[in-house]
Amino acid sequence: MLSISILSADFGRLNEEIEMVNNSVADWLHLDIMDGNFVPNISYGFPVVEVIAAKAKKPLDAHLMIEKPEKYIEAFHAAGVHYLSVHYEACTHLHRTLQHIRATGMKAGVALNPHTPAFLLREIIHETDFVLIMSVNPGFGGQAFIAHSLQKIKELKEIIQCEKAAALIEVDGGVNLQNAAQLYAAGADILVAGNAVFSAANPQETIKKLKTPGV
Ligand code: DX5
Ligand code: ZN
Repeated sequence: MLSISILSADFGRLNEEIEMVNNSVADWLHLDIMDGNFVPNISYGFPVVEVIAAKAKKPLDAHLMIEKPEKYIEAFHAAGVHYLSVHYEACTHLHRTLQHIRATGMKAGVALNPHTPAFLLREIIHETDFVLIMSVNPGFGGQAFIAHSLQKIKELKEIIQCEKAAALIEVDGGVNLQNAAQLYAAGADILVAGNAVFSAANPQETIKKLKTPGV
């Protein structure tokens, strides 16, 4: 599956960019929410999320790179988000936060920074609908894929299987046509792609190739 990160879109042509994603084979639309504290960058907030939600025909996958994400769960639900991920590193009471997300009806995700090991999720994996493995340091689009992430996908897959859990694995950062097949083979269920899509001459064709590499 493929989730398109709108962070790399041309925000001056936001409606057309969303339309392009609507008319593609992409599965989800990925929203990168940054607060300038958890990560050294600020992206966009609710007014933009609401514009995107009104136009998008794909489920919204919001990745919160913010401190105290638990304060905004209801607001993201009200804005039309379907999949909500919070960072492991930003949550003191992760179990409570995931239960809160699920109670709204949204799917609950845990995002891991590159330095955070997968085994830390063993105790929480049954409360988690999806794990978002960051394969770059969060904060910016268009960065190079950190090679060690492949090993982490495999380790997480083993944990999920060993615990007989149903969590999906999403991989975010530096995904491109060169590494997509390898990432699915390692155990990724959903890839996030921003720069690879919006810098392509033919974004819809690139979405198709990233979703089903080698077809
Ligand atoms: C980085 C974001 C990613 C990013 C992906 O902080 O979480 O979702 O936008 O973009 P690319 O595909 O350009 O690495
Ligand atoms: Zn993201």
